[in-house]
Amino acid sequence: MRFFLVLTLLSSACAGIPLPRETLSDPGALLYNGYTSPKVDCFRCHNGDGTGVWGPSLVKRVPRLKAEKLAKVIRQGPGSMPKYEADVLSDAELQQLVDWLKGSFVSAP
Ligand code: HEC
Repeated sequence: MRFFLVLTLLSSACAGIPLPRETLSDPGALLYNGYTSPKVDCFRCHNGDGTGVWGPSLVKRVPRLKAEKLAKVIRQGPGSMPKYEADVLSDAELQQLVDWLKGSFVSAP
């Protein structure tokens, strides 16, 4: 019982927070923050603002990645990141996500 409590606390402490729905209009931002498809939830590991939780900071990573590489990362899921294949993310949605990421995280801090 106590073990599960600790696990629950740990996993909620490590979970990213999505940006509020009403502040978003870009389809890529909506996907990233988990509002479009229940299985597309990048914010959980990279946080709503992209600063990272237990996944790396996208604010730092995205400016270094070309759009094609970024699309490949999302489809293939490096390391412990999940793969987002066509059954959960269509090509059109992948493009929205990549466009939004490249437009939002332009230069590394
Ligand atoms: C379950 C946690 C998790 C989720 C959900 C997740 N990621 Fe990741 N992501 C990671 C981890 C961990 C890494 C680092 C992988 C490595 O390099 O070993 C990573 C790496 C990345 C990178 C950097 C790759 C590089 O080469 O520098 C990008 C970009 C990225 N994720 C985007 C996304 C996007 C977009 C989504 C949603 C479609 C997403 N991630 C969902 C955990 C996650």
